[in-house]
Amino acid sequence: MSIRILGTGSALPERAVTNEEITELVDTSDEWIRERTGIAGRHISTGETVASLASRACVLALENARKSADEVELILVATCSPENVAPCAACQVQKEIGAGNAAAFDLNAACAGFLFALHTAWAYVESGIYRNALIAGSEVLSKIVDWEDRGTCILFGDGAGAVYVEKCGDGGILGFVQHSDGNKGDVLSCVGRTLENPFFRRISEKNYLKMDGREIFSFAVRQIPKTIEEALEKAGIAVGDVELFVLHQANRRIIEGISKRLGADEVHFPTNLERVGNTSSASIPLLLDELNRKGELKPGMRLVLSGFGAGLTCGACVLEW
Ligand code: UT7
Repeated sequence: MSIRILGTGSALPERAVTNEEITELVDTSDEWIRERTGIAGRHISTGETVASLASRACVLALENARKSADEVELILVATCSPENVAPCAACQVQKEIGAGNAAAFDLNAACAGFLFALHTAWAYVESGIYRNALIAGSEVLSKIVDWEDRGTCILFGDGAGAVYVEKCGDGGILGFVQHSDGNKGDVLSCVGRTLENPFFRRISEKNYLKMDGREIFSFAVRQIPKTIEEALEKAGIAVGDVELFVLHQANRRIIEGISKRLGADEVHFPTNLERVGNTSSASIPLLLDELNRKGELKPGMRLVLSGFGAGLTCGACVLEW
């Protein structure tokens, strides 16, 4: 038994921000950003929230799957930038879309969060607890990005993507792997509220995202091909049988490095980072939705979804569309 993606949806904030606009904030250039990352623009929230973007993406995923909200049994929202400590974004989505019969909770594995949530949904369905799930990756990273740090603020964007999955007899997800390395937690981090109570007060650190870009870059280019090969082996499929590699949209040079190491032509690696930047846990379902709506995903097609991020975390999923 496995799960199959039956519908996709996505949502972006209204405000698009060009590289030129970023040059007014930090010492950088459109040319540098394009050459080093492939990014030309991103969408930035002017009021949209993790929950509102996720809700829009979920409604579209349900419409696409021709399902109603009250049929949904599980809602998972992957996010590392929620507005609230409580209630979780998934419960806000449940309220917003009227999915009163679902259990709902959030999950944080940074940019690999959507894949970890997909794997979680698969485990719930496989064990017979639920028959279906609505899974969103949603981020408003613009509130944790340091807009004075040119090493990070050029990269990230806000947005959400979602999929509706259901139990299936054959096909669907064929192989899955996920890994974490907590020893590398400092490479990409963002502290939350620091401890402060009537009995203790810790001097606050600046609670913005901090990143060692080069370290993440080399982690991704070394680790992701291995992770993908591991998932392909589990699925019993060769690299050459994969039509599309839907990778986390962090940097075009990372994607090129991964395609070279795998020995797969770059035509099999679609991107949308040019327009939306790195949207962390939203990036894979956002791209998947764009491909689905353009009619580029055909039944029987073999896809690999793969991502990496803070933790460090990484994962890969092989599926038949
Ligand atoms: O979702 C996972 C999250 N993170 C990532 O995926 C990040 C992965 N890493 C990257 O994408 C790249 O490492 C970056 C795009 C962040 C940086 O590119 P890079 O080619 O690794 O640049 P670098 O950090 O090695 O810096 C090269 C030069 C430095 O100047 P010097 O020391 O050579 O004079 C930087 O100070 O570029 C400079 N620099 C910039 N210049 C203009 C760094 N950021 C900028 C900038 N504009 N925005």
